[in-house]
Amino acid sequence: MSEPAASRRRVTAPAVAARKGSGDPVVMVTAYDAPSARLVEAAGADVILVGDSVANVVLGYADTLQVTIDDMVHHVGAVSRTGPSALVVGDLPWLSYHVSTADTVQNAARLVRAGAGAVKLEGGRKRLKAVRAILDAEIPVLGHLGLTPQSIHALGGFKVQGKELDAAQALTDDAVALAEAGCFAMVLECVPDAVARMITETVPVPTIGIGAGRHCDGQVLVWHDILGFEAPGHRRPKFVRAYAELERDAATAIEQFCSDVRAGSFPSSAETYHMTDRMAEALGLYGATGVGEPELTQ
Ligand code: KIV
Repeated sequence: MSEPAASRRRVTAPAVAARKGSGDPVVMVTAYDAPSARLVEAAGADVILVGDSVANVVLGYADTLQVTIDDMVHHVGAVSRTGPSALVVGDLPWLSYHVSTADTVQNAARLVRAGAGAVKLEGGRKRLKAVRAILDAEIPVLGHLGLTPQSIHALGGFKVQGKELDAAQALTDDAVALAEAGCFAMVLECVPDAVARMITETVPVPTIGIGAGRHCDGQVLVWHDILGFEAPGHRRPKFVRAYAELERDAATAIEQFCSDVRAGSFPSSAETYHMTDRMAEALGLYGATGVGEPELTQ
């Protein structure tokens, strides 16, 4: 079993790789800023993924193709500054590793300098050159196969992958290639559970599933999905289990604030700084209320 977050040692990429076959599932949750990272760390997750899903769930874009390496550095920095013992994985965004080898390594290094202990990239055999170059710079790489949202136009939409025999075999070949290249683990997104099971039983590194069934070596979900934050009208995918409905609860809290302000019941006297009697007297002497900076008291 994993240790509680407060007492545990820093999780590293080799430590995640070593979990293969241990029966102790790898737990990964996304986070994008300090409050979300603190919560994921306190809950005891092994890995915090600063995903390019920041595009959809934080920045309001329709797809992940809009985020840049600068955006990812910004969010990896915010997460890392909380000092988690969980492994921070920075997601390489679209076009940050489809470029020259030198630029690919520089982009991965920017995430490491922002605080990531590993990077993630999407794709299989097609991306081996990038994987090898990043590993050669001593940066651990987490693979990502199946529904790879950065290929959304090439895939023709957000669809379950590997449903046909050829596609399932191709995914397995990609997984083997990523593991042989040295990826410490890989995400399997939106693939049938039988395919995820076949890959999990084939590769010597942990598979971390999202919409890939229960046979993976670990599971990942997006922070906002776990907590029930979603735009009105958004259809919740079947693989998401929401453990709270915070979008609804947050809206109720903010509505209450608006109504308290309008009713004059916020702020109360207890929520207000008051002057000392001496200051009030002095201001009264000069007949000047509300000028200058009053002394702060409880
Ligand atoms: O960006 C992300 O959040 C991801 C997960 C869905 C695995 O890639």
